[in-house]
Amino acid sequence: MPTIAQLAALEILDSRGRPTVQATCMLAGGAAATASVPSGASTGAAEALELRDGDHTRYGGLGCRRAVAHINHDLNNALAGRAFATQGELDAAMVALDGTPNKARLGANAILAVSLAFARATAAGRGVPLYQHFADLLGVPLATLPRPTINLFSGGKHAGGQIPIQDVLVVPAAARTMDEALATTYACFQAAAQLTARKYSMRVLTADEGGLAPPFANAQAMLDDAVTAIREAGFVPGREVALAIDVASSHFYQDGRYHLDGRSLDSRGMIDTILDWLDRYPIVSVEDGLAEDDWAHWPELAAAIGGRALVLGDDLLCTNPARIRRARAMGAATALLLKVNQIGTLSEAAEAYRLARAAGWRVTISARSGETEDNWLADLAVGWAGDQIKVGSITQSERLAKYNRLLAIEAETSLPLVRSEKRERKGRSNAIKPLWSLL
Ligand code: PGA
Ligand code: ZN
Repeated sequence: MPTIAQLAALEILDSRGRPTVQATCMLAGGAAATASVPSGASTGAAEALELRDGDHTRYGGLGCRRAVAHINHDLNNALAGRAFATQGELDAAMVALDGTPNKARLGANAILAVSLAFARATAAGRGVPLYQHFADLLGVPLATLPRPTINLFSGGKHAGGQIPIQDVLVVPAAARTMDEALATTYACFQAAAQLTARKYSMRVLTADEGGLAPPFANAQAMLDDAVTAIREAGFVPGREVALAIDVASSHFYQDGRYHLDGRSLDSRGMIDTILDWLDRYPIVSVEDGLAEDDWAHWPELAAAIGGRALVLGDDLLCTNPARIRRARAMGAATALLLKVNQIGTLSEAAEAYRLARAAGWRVTISARSGETEDNWLADLAVGWAGDQIKVGSITQSERLAKYNRLLAIEAETSLPLVRSEKRERKGRSNAIKPLWSLL
């Protein structure tokens, strides 16, 4: 049974240069590991609390010294010397020590850093790769690698608000390996970069998650350009490469209306706009098509588009078991965007995952816009058999750390990319299946 010998923490900087938390967990017996937590910008209102110092003379108030001190003192004092048979026991102990509903006292950033460092140290102690340890935590066998969904264009809070839609992502739908998926995406990204230079006379400047962010006239222009880039890269849009979008509509929803491209839409108007996009573009996944507060209309959205694309909840669900139960009961979504730091412990994220699977939903394992060079997310996406992984663009080392880890896991395990395995078994490996069947 792993016994914590010592916990220690450090304030480090994330990909936006903002402070975040790194924890080290040393176990009795010598195994030790370090893990770092990411941070969002387009955050859901129901997320667990990321504790910031609030001292405006330092990092604009974003310092994490208090969260770090909570690991070095409160958590270390309470947990060092104690044995934890399972990840769940440790996480429950930290939730109890915190004592608030949203981890506001110790900070979800402090608690998650310890949760992850303990998992990694325990995996090291067992002598198994982290992805295997994550699979064992859930009690699922290793089966597939997740299909990457990769940012081509960025808007919303990640790109200075120049266009409301936050992400247009490419889905290398016909790729049969991770290696092929990344090579396909690279070709699309390069074509998009050339298009951006040609059409907008812009150098390749990228947003928080590495997506290109030219001044699109409107959402439709953003989607048109994505389809053009796929075609110019030599792929058939909708057959070989599809699109996913993160509408992140909570951020342009005010007083019950969606303020999009100079129009003010009610919920039905927003649903009709998404339906129009589905008619025109090869979109297979729609994240946060409606706002996190617009619960009443999500079932209508799911009924309208659910047969054609994933109805993916990010801000709506916040990886929060209670919100997932509510969405499931209402028929409000068909897929969970899983971000571990929205809830703050691995065990609670695992509960969110189980609930989503029990509802028959797809699961996309997601990074945040503020990331670190840590690559645990790739192991999590493989261990928990995510259908998709969403890490951002195929640029910037904090994103590539995850893609490179996926390549290493692929080389080590020879696991098939999700769904390609079924096609192989049916002897149709050369046939390109209709898009929707891949998700
Ligand atoms: P965030 O954005 O990490 O800034 O919350 C990611 C997303 O909305 O999917
Ligand atoms: Zn989102």
